[in-house]
Amino acid sequence: MRKNFYILGAAAMLAVGAHAQQAKADYELVVPLPASIELTDGVGFLVNLNDPVGVTEHVTSAIPNPEGYRITVDADGILIEGGSEAGLFYGHQTLRKAAGANADQTVEFPAAVITDEPRFGYRGMHLDVCRHFFPIEFVKTYIDMLALHNMNVLHFHITDDQGWRWESKKYPLLNEVGSWRDRTVKGRAGSGQYEYGRYGGYYTQEELRDLVQYAAERHITIIPEVDMPGHMLAALAAYPELGCTGGPYEVCPDWGVFEDVLCLGNDETMDFLYGVFGELIEIFPSTYIHVGGDECPRDRWKACPKCQARIQAEGLTASDGHTPEDMLQSWCTAQVEKFLNAQGRQIIGWDEILNGEVAPGATVMSWRGTEGGIKAAGVGHDVIMTPNSYCYFDYYQTADTEGEPLSIGGCITVEKVYSFDPTVGLNADEAKHIRGVQANLWTEYIHTPEHAEYMVLPRMAALSEVQWQAADRPKDYDAFKRRAAHMMQIYDKLGLNYAKHLNQH
Ligand code: ACM
Ligand code: ZN
Repeated sequence: MRKNFYILGAAAMLAVGAHAQQAKADYELVVPLPASIELTDGVGFLVNLNDPVGVTEHVTSAIPNPEGYRITVDADGILIEGGSEAGLFYGHQTLRKAAGANADQTVEFPAAVITDEPRFGYRGMHLDVCRHFFPIEFVKTYIDMLALHNMNVLHFHITDDQGWRWESKKYPLLNEVGSWRDRTVKGRAGSGQYEYGRYGGYYTQEELRDLVQYAAERHITIIPEVDMPGHMLAALAAYPELGCTGGPYEVCPDWGVFEDVLCLGNDETMDFLYGVFGELIEIFPSTYIHVGGDECPRDRWKACPKCQARIQAEGLTASDGHTPEDMLQSWCTAQVEKFLNAQGRQIIGWDEILNGEVAPGATVMSWRGTEGGIKAAGVGHDVIMTPNSYCYFDYYQTADTEGEPLSIGGCITVEKVYSFDPTVGLNADEAKHIRGVQANLWTEYIHTPEHAEYMVLPRMAALSEVQWQAADRPKDYDAFKRRAAHMMQIYDKLGLNYAKHLNQH
């Protein structure tokens, strides 16, 4: 059983011998490094954080950022002040991380004043549970990993070509048919070789509601993604009438981008989308709902009389280098946006939603580099930066791939992640629209929880500093490596698997 790092456990009685060397907390080793650490004169305070006698806390309006906090340590005790409960949570996290692997013992906290707040309000990690399915217990571990790195959003990718992963009571075939595939590609995408056997699964609504609560207790919001109108083969296998050709379709056994997508000329498809998103928002209370939008080929729409009739009826014409089919996708996104806005929700979409007319209130998730994000910020849209040049944690993390598990390709080292500046080249008005940073974990080549941990740790530590530290703080990778090594001791303590490539450039 893994132990939550930050949830206070039962008090541990610990006999410290008179001459025993007392473990000492080191604030300079905390990831993400706090904004200001001022060591003060005087002796510090000895405490076991599992039995926190002498540790007091309160929320105060003197700390304007709800996620900000101040810690004051002196001989009398430790005071944690937070801008809200979330700020208090991050204050506790800093103390535990300063104690590191000794966090369950009595530790000496040096006298200090620590003042801290995050740079970005959106600090995310994504998880694809479609290409490979992960037990709900691992999703909880993943949420714990986010919390350990002061992250506050789990972008949960729960539908794709290869499997529909959440329970729909309204459309039961999404689970009976869409959650299972009969074969899975062997080796690289497109190899033409398959492993045969039923593979898949889905989370029940009850499990998901419990997960939402679990995340909320750690100040994490789960943003679910239903990826549409492409990446929909699992749904099409269940309801072939929603595709342009009528099928038959198969829950996809391979990785890649596929021509069969939702038929947007069919009114039933739009009703299906409203039904699905309507059901989704009853499970997930997040303000933001991710509507996907990436990698949607136009081939079927070009040849489909219904889709062409929709283009005519809605007066969708080529403009600004966008085709009528581009405009058809943006029409669909705008319809779904209207539906979700009426329920008090906002949409996020991958940067392909910039092709055509961007849905007016959409937040753009920039994945094909930072260009889409820069363009969207320039025209006043909010942006989450998640470029595949810095933030794709399914890529290799070392150029020397011998001995590494098979990966989708590319190379993004820890140092590369650490070097990312999400607002470089933007003016102040544009920079305001960069709401946060996220890394993505696509799981075509990741079959097990241990492998997923290996791919994200310790790159997640580097990402957390990009998300948390002030823009004007100088980068110092050597100092970060010392903090990352300290973090690895915590990973060991928690039984988390991680890569050891800190010296790769
Ligand atoms: C993506 O990587 N297709 C968003
Ligand atoms: Zn069609």
